[in-house]
Amino acid sequence: MLVGLVVTALWAMLPAYVPNNAAVLAGGGRPIDGGRTWGDRRLLGDGKTWRGTAVGTLAGVALAAGLNVVAAPIAAATGLSPPTFPPAAAVGLAAGAMGGDIAASFLKRRSGRDRGAAFPGLDQLDFVVGALAFAVVAAPEWTQATFTPGVLVVVLVATPVLHVGTNIIAYLIGAKNEPW
Ligand code: CTP
Ligand code: MG
Repeated sequence: MLVGLVVTALWAMLPAYVPNNAAVLAGGGRPIDGGRTWGDRRLLGDGKTWRGTAVGTLAGVALAAGLNVVAAPIAAATGLSPPTFPPAAAVGLAAGAMGGDIAASFLKRRSGRDRGAAFPGLDQLDFVVGALAFAVVAAPEWTQATFTPGVLVVVLVATPVLHVGTNIIAYLIGAKNEPW
């Protein structure tokens, strides 16, 4: 059933959606690359900080813990069956979202893009690929059982739409310097 697929997909990805937004609010302080360069470009740039990464990961894990608490009541009230997150899955999704975003910055710098430059496609999916990759390593059985082919299709279609939408909102309220 499509509603069930969409609920499972968005619910399962929430711990991966929140870290990037939390990092935007928490960013600042020491950059992960410590200012180091590769060639004449920064390794990652000032947009990837220790504080943003730590707070983003913790926010994703905390959200997963919260979803675990409300999953049963919501299932009872709606008849839907949202997934719950084993700790390893929660950490994998949240840390993986941050890892994918960091990897994307690495690729942006290598391809001559300055901090904040758009990289359409990569910007919208870096954290999805990172989250799923970390999750499948940290919690292989849970990840394979949760992200069935149908769920994966919904994730890949819905995530870019949600990402663009939330970033435009973050830009409009002044939390982000660019609308992507
Ligand atoms: N941020 C952070 N640490 C991270 C990710 C994000 O501190 N691991 C914060 C930074 O303040 C960053 C902001 O969130 O400027 C927006 O994130 P993002 O768009 O990913 O970074 P950009 O500044 O656009 O840099 P880049 O071009 O490297 O993506
Ligand atoms: Mg950016």
